[in-house]
Amino acid sequence: MLLLLHVLMLSLLSGGSARVVWDFESECRQFFANGSSPTRFPGLQYRQICQMRKDVDYYATFYDTVNKIPVYSAYKFEGIMHCKRRASWYIEPKIDDNNGGPNMASEGSVDIQVRGDRQALNRDYYRSGYHKGHLAPVYLANSQSCAYATFTLTNAAPQADHFNSVLWWDVEKSMAQYLKWGCNLQPVYIVTGVVPGTNYINNRVNIPSHFWTAYCCFDQNNRCSDSWGAIGTNDNNSNIEEMSVSYLEEELENLYGRTFQLFQ
Ligand SMILES: *[C@@H]1O[C@H](CO)[C@@H](O)[C@H](O)[C@H]1NC(C)=O
Ligand SMILES: *[C@@H]1O[C@H](CO)[C@@H](O)[C@H](O)[C@H]1NC(C)=O
Repeated sequence: MLLLLHVLMLSLLSGGSARVVWDFESECRQFFANGSSPTRFPGLQYRQICQMRKDVDYYATFYDTVNKIPVYSAYKFEGIMHCKRRASWYIEPKIDDNNGGPNMASEGSVDIQVRGDRQALNRDYYRSGYHKGHLAPVYLANSQSCAYATFTLTNAAPQADHFNSVLWWDVEKSMAQYLKWGCNLQPVYIVTGVVPGTNYINNRVNIPSHFWTAYCCFDQNNRCSDSWGAIGTNDNNSNIEEMSVSYLEEELENLYGRTFQLFQ
């Protein structure tokens, strides 16, 4: 039975060129420090996504289909560019429909019978009082197409508006300003995630209790020579704490209730 389930999952998740993949550590390892992803929780509710738009991968997301929010998105810092935002958000066809294509797609282009069972839709956020808070942010995109690729709902979670547009934005901005020069031009890997909370919008999409982020400047000895983390509660008066990566990992272990590693 277990074997059968495994084979079934494999065929569901890794058929063709689908970018909802069985193992994103091998399919899009370029987004992870030393090619190793942060902790992946076990369980059928999670999906590994190489976030593809117009046949190009831009970052990776570990997605929770029950809470309908990501656990984290992992990306590489490539410099910043001031990009336009996209007015509408994509969804991930393959999450609800095995025959869905590999690229993120606008909601209207996905079969209405099967959309939304396992992922958030635009209407879930409508009049919810919460922003669609980016994990992989627009601000750190270094191309317009990369910025557009962040506008997919599998890369977003409900975020209190002042926290999103003022407090957390400030974290993203100061991190990017530092990373432009701070790592001596070494490759920089960033992971941004959320911790599920106890409330939902539209009775479907979990409102996270926290947003967190961390970076690793990866040196020639395959180590994070410089790294940093931050975590904030998801409310308008969020108290954002900055800390070392190992301290953030401890904090996340307490919040997730299981061991959690960010970088190898
Ligand atoms: C944050 O403040 C805005 C504007 O005052 C309000 O509409 C919104 O409901 C608040 N969000 C939360 C989560 O408290
Ligand atoms: C990086 O990956 C290599 C090859 O997989 C491994 O030998 C090495 O221990 C890793 N480095 C760290 C710091 O984990």
